[in-house]
Amino acid sequence: MSSTPSPAVSSALALHGGPRAKPAPYGTGRRFGPEELQQLSEALDQNTLFYTKGRKTAELRKQFAARYGVGHCVPCSSGTAALHIALAACGVKPGDEVITSPMTDMGTCSAILFCGAIPIFADVDARSYTLDPASVEAHVGPRTAAIIAVHLTGAPCDLDALQAIARRHDLWLIEDCAQAFQCEYRGRLCGSIGDLGCFSLNDFKHISAGDAGLVLTDDPALARQAELFADKCYDRTPGVSRNPAFLAPNYRMCELHAAVALAQLAKLDAIVARRRRYGEGLGAGLQGIPASCPRGSWPGRGRATGSTCCGSTSRSSAPARSSSGRCRPRASTWTRAATRGRRSTCTTSSPGGAASAARSSRSRWPPMSGTSRGSARRRRR
Ligand SMILES: Cc1ncc(COP(=O)(O)O)c(C=O)c1O
Repeated sequence: MSSTPSPAVSSALALHGGPRAKPAPYGTGRRFGPEELQQLSEALDQNTLFYTKGRKTAELRKQFAARYGVGHCVPCSSGTAALHIALAACGVKPGDEVITSPMTDMGTCSAILFCGAIPIFADVDARSYTLDPASVEAHVGPRTAAIIAVHLTGAPCDLDALQAIARRHDLWLIEDCAQAFQCEYRGRLCGSIGDLGCFSLNDFKHISAGDAGLVLTDDPALARQAELFADKCYDRTPGVSRNPAFLAPNYRMCELHAAVALAQLAKLDAIVARRRRYGEGLGAGLQGIPASCPRGSWPGRGRATGSTCCGSTSRSSAPARSSSGRCRPRASTWTRAATRGRRSTCTTSSPGGAASAARSSRSRWPPMSGTSRGSARRRRR
């Protein structure tokens, strides 16, 4: 084959001296740079990498809580740890049920299982792939303790509806924001709306510290429980002696992770703006194509922050469409079996209408040490 281009091609392609189709340079693709190095160097200069002794973790807490307008941020080692901490702070205990989405990362389910609780999968909305509130309410039973709302690929759940269900049935509402930094729901930031918001800083998220997590809450009693649960139930208040009252893991964040997270946090707004631009552009381009389900923004609901680059919505968990066009999540075999088993136990063993009585008499684990509980709903627990 001749390597000499035809005259028409040579005038069209930049390769052959024609105009460049992309005049601006490509990005470097590098997400870490001098800012992270500077933070890391400062952390090492402290001569301690322990979170209560250095300044990086404290600064990260302060900045993240302020960004979300909430009173407390508990740093931890992963998004899974953040969800486990949140559930434990709510007192979710063995035998409880937690309603969540079947389209999520394993970490959401692991956190529930680590509490000895049972994940119950509600259906998802066909357009946003987030929890369908009607399906959530249909799955509430006498053992339901909490709902974990997963803002999948930066798309906000219908939080008003989920919050109303949580209030009606005396449940905790935990937001899984691992894939949803700066995601907006009706003008408010996801993660600051439910009782607790959980974030992941693993390497596939909007911002990365390698691995780490953050828990947000505005409730001081929940924050205290979360703080204790993240650190072996050690009270780190200066002058207070350690007296662990319940079993808790070590989910601490160290100063190195906090240092990288701080540098990344400074880049978050630009990252989210870029993802929104790309996401909304793709959504607009896909409008009108019959087979597509464009995602992006929902009139009256909120603004998505674009997909995280992870493949957490795997093919095997992608929703199948029924003949009515409704999305049906495919639960894995074990989760279906677990759900079926639990459901039948519930229906055969629970006296009708006993849901609120069962919840009121539910003992908390770990025991709450704080006296201030956020609301009448929580006081009843
Ligand atoms: C929705 C969701 N929840 C929880 C997690 C768990 O986070 P981590 O991997 O930091 O434990 C992830 C991570 O992929 C996630 O995407």
